[in-house]
Amino acid sequence: MQPKLKAAGCAAKARINKQRVAANFSRAATTYDSAAVLQKRVAARVMMGLPTEARPGCVLDLGSGTGSQTALLSGHFPDSHVTGLDLAMGMLQFARSQCDSASWCSGDIESLPFKSESFDLVFSSLAIQWCSFETVLEEIHRVLQPGGVFVFSSLASGTMVELEEAWQQVDRDVHINGFDSFEQQQRWLLESGFKQQSFRQQTETLYYPELFQMLRELKALGVNTVHDGPPGLMSRGRLIRLQEVYESFRVAAGLPLSYQVLYGILRKPAHA
Ligand SMILES: C[S@@+](CC[C@H](N)C(=O)[O-])C[C@H]1O[C@@H](n2cnc3c(N)ncnc32)[C@H](O)[C@@H]1O
Repeated sequence: MQPKLKAAGCAAKARINKQRVAANFSRAATTYDSAAVLQKRVAARVMMGLPTEARPGCVLDLGSGTGSQTALLSGHFPDSHVTGLDLAMGMLQFARSQCDSASWCSGDIESLPFKSESFDLVFSSLAIQWCSFETVLEEIHRVLQPGGVFVFSSLASGTMVELEEAWQQVDRDVHINGFDSFEQQQRWLLESGFKQQSFRQQTETLYYPELFQMLRELKALGVNTVHDGPPGLMSRGRLIRLQEVYESFRVAAGLPLSYQVLYGILRKPAHA
């Protein structure tokens, strides 16, 4: 039986260092797609929430990464003008080299470089969790046309709780990025001026044969710590201790790492 995890969802959301976010993801541009098992599964679910009847003129993919979802959006809406936006130059360069059916734009989701009401559809998968959800909602509400739709996934507190708990038994450094709770994000959503079509949380758990494979994959994804403090130390002794602690979480399928994934579909009222 899996041991009870003491620290469930405790990692508080710290100030995010955007330079670190951009540097980590830029470094991971060429390794991301082969490690993105969960990310692909989640993005496929977000795609299922795309409006079926709509023929959007302009579509925006926020935090487009390697551009694989942006390319799918271009295929899904062949008559639309699709733009991928990302903070990480390395990701944008990679995406541009893979897909020429979309436009690419460097920018920050919290301060979008677009005029108000310039998009009919905004898509985002696993990118906005490193931003203030309140600010993101304001910005997307601004750039969407009345009647426009925002389809997205994000993360909530409790994500990587096993790794957080294991690190807490090793040292006092911050190793895990904290996320806001589902309830807090729901409150911001209710105040945002969007009409909520759906907003739900789903637990996804990946299993690894051993800890070092898990850590290698997280690095390949660019999912290192991005808070605004000193990075946690990773000496060999601490890693060995971490491995010992994590082994106590092992179940038949392997070492678990869970994500609290949020899925949302929001519509800006036609007469806002
Ligand atoms: C986990 S990847 C997801 C990529 C893609 N959406 C997917 O599903 O495969 C997150 C991406 O969001 C970008 N990102 C994070 N914070 C951002 C911000 N504030 N503004 C723009 N992009 C951001 C990162 O650079 C990274 O490329």
